[in-house]
Amino acid sequence: MGIYYDQEKQQFHLFNKEISYVMELENQDYLIQVYFGARIQSFYQKSPYPKIDRSSFSPNPANWPDRNFSLDTVLQECPGQGSGDYREPLFEITYPDGTKATQFKYEAHEIIQGKPKLTGLPATYAVDSEEAETLVIHLIDSIRQVKASLSYTIYQNRSVVTKSIQYENLGTETVYLNRGLSACLDFPDAHFDLVQMPGAWSREKQLKRDPLMMGIHTLDSKRGASSTHQQPFIALMRPEATEKSGEVYGFHFIYSGNFQITTEVDTYQQTRVLIGINAYDFSWQLQEKEVFQTPEVVLVYSNTGLNGMSQTFHHLYRERLARGEHQFKERPVLINNWETTYFDFDETQLVNLARKANELGIELFVLDDGWFGERNDDTTSLGDWVVNRQKLANGLKGVADKIRNEGLKFGLWFEPEMISQQSQLFKEHPDWHIQIKDYPTSQGRNQLVLDFSRQEVRDEIKAQLIQILSTVPIDYIKWDMNRNMTEVGSLGANPQQQLETAHRYILGLYEVLEELTTSFPHILFENCSGGGGRYDPGMVYYMPQSWASDNTDAVERLKIQYGTSLVFPPIMTCAHLSESPNHQVGRITDTKMRADVAMSANLGIMLNLEKEATTDLELVKENIAWYQKNRKLLQFGDFYRLISPFESHYTAWVFVDAAKDQAILFFYQILNEVSKPFVKVQLQGLDSQKVYQINGDLFSGDELMNFGLYLNHDLDGDFKSKVIELKSL
Ligand code: DGJ
Repeated sequence: MGIYYDQEKQQFHLFNKEISYVMELENQDYLIQVYFGARIQSFYQKSPYPKIDRSSFSPNPANWPDRNFSLDTVLQECPGQGSGDYREPLFEITYPDGTKATQFKYEAHEIIQGKPKLTGLPATYAVDSEEAETLVIHLIDSIRQVKASLSYTIYQNRSVVTKSIQYENLGTETVYLNRGLSACLDFPDAHFDLVQMPGAWSREKQLKRDPLMMGIHTLDSKRGASSTHQQPFIALMRPEATEKSGEVYGFHFIYSGNFQITTEVDTYQQTRVLIGINAYDFSWQLQEKEVFQTPEVVLVYSNTGLNGMSQTFHHLYRERLARGEHQFKERPVLINNWETTYFDFDETQLVNLARKANELGIELFVLDDGWFGERNDDTTSLGDWVVNRQKLANGLKGVADKIRNEGLKFGLWFEPEMISQQSQLFKEHPDWHIQIKDYPTSQGRNQLVLDFSRQEVRDEIKAQLIQILSTVPIDYIKWDMNRNMTEVGSLGANPQQQLETAHRYILGLYEVLEELTTSFPHILFENCSGGGGRYDPGMVYYMPQSWASDNTDAVERLKIQYGTSLVFPPIMTCAHLSESPNHQVGRITDTKMRADVAMSANLGIMLNLEKEATTDLELVKENIAWYQKNRKLLQFGDFYRLISPFESHYTAWVFVDAAKDQAILFFYQILNEVSKPFVKVQLQGLDSQKVYQINGDLFSGDELMNFGLYLNHDLDGDFKSKVIELKSL
């Protein structure tokens, strides 16, 4: 691994064994993107930008001798505004004279061992200075008196480059950063398909692959959260690339608020990718000497298809984004009371549920919504984090102690970022939610969003939570968030800073999460937002697991979990074995199918154990025991997608341990057919030299990966599944 600067060629080369990232300075001024891809040992070319006479309508920079050079046609790292590049800019700054043109030029660079922290923001990290190196390139517009410092980190053993930017006002007058994106990557061609993860509530992270089109295309969120509707992710794949072969570039934004990912294919068939905080409803005041730090973008290069990209993301996120005591610990099987009781429960019911859960081998009891204030439905009490004694006569500690006496750990639901209009907190602080002065605020799930951009609001909520966490034995928290922002403004900010509110909210949220997760390191935090409404890498930094969707139907979950696995490893994705008929879609499925889907992620149970008639509890018990025996592999193994639920009535995936000695293959038949075509699947990730045993029969690794296994011939009926365990000899 290294970062090499060739003074003569003015060329930067970041490399490790797998990848190279090359940039160049044009005439010691402009930072030009040259190459990102598979490792190149030595890059000999200089100025490979197209010097052809095509720039007739493309201006040349002021006082530039070479008519062939135009910012309009070169690949750039920090494209500005108003100086001849007519493509989408990376940033936009308004100056006191009301104009915007800005063009950054090279000032200096430095190479740092390791990876510096991004203050107040989640980011990937290095545990020692050997593991990564960081290049910071300082660019300056000396007339406008602004600076951009671009950071690039390369890891020793990962096909990853991370990027972020600090924008700085060096002048004495205030300027406004109206767009301050985190990264630009220009490609010399447009031979790509674009993969995205669109969705909706209970239909999160679906996959969509389309040819990259000419012109400007933006995926974004304007909701104040990363959202169920889009993930801050795209992949650009070569059209011939597949799940297991070909070139793929993955882009993921480590941020939980409004974002935009813009692709632009220009008239020369060059592609620009821009990623950062959404410029919509955003403007950041930069006073004299003030700095704006953007969140980080992770760039992944794979020449082993989408699966290769996913492997890189999975390892990076598990090993160098998630943190804390639980990062490498096996996660407990939990039971959650939500679909069993909704808001209607008392202590006896909960303790009975816990007792039955213990008999099944469940390890953690999660008390969901409805335990506080007067919360008997979703119209009231958010913000009043005081136990409801009518439901829990012995208080939280009372119920927690009893559940622990039943042999389970105790977990609790919170939705700390919200306030109900019917609450004590609202009576005392009607100005504490996100709002515009004298303008009505829309409701969402009968609630308002607390203004986490304000310190006093954060302090109050933190104090309420700390009070509970310090007095009740709590092992787990489900941190929920159930509505998006509207009428975005803050009564705590001046008019010039109103458009900072959405980002300041996210910074405030990160501050609260940092404090709570580090003050209570033993607590396992689970991220939730009405399902996967804010399951993004920003949240992973604070909470090592996330509730992927409120939709627990086994069939729908195949797509949700398959899509989610593009970037997140199964240990981070929580899945519950729930009732049949399913509460979201009404589908009736076998216990085995439901178990096999939930066990291929981080397993939980959401069954009414007292009433459950359609679920075979003996089978649930057996499955929990099997999961616990195998969870090291299922939670920490490598995960390969084999058959996509988006393409057929079947799904398959396989988990392989690091030594390639053990693997577990899950196969699902969604709908049965008569005279059906055979489904044969080629496994991945095995050792081609090893021999594996399946139910006493022997198979070689290369046989399983090249010839494969027939899977569907012995499955009858809809919603069926099978699990195949492989062990090397
Ligand atoms: C939304 C979550 O996704 C559900 O699991 C549940 O916790 C409800 N909120 C409770 O209001």
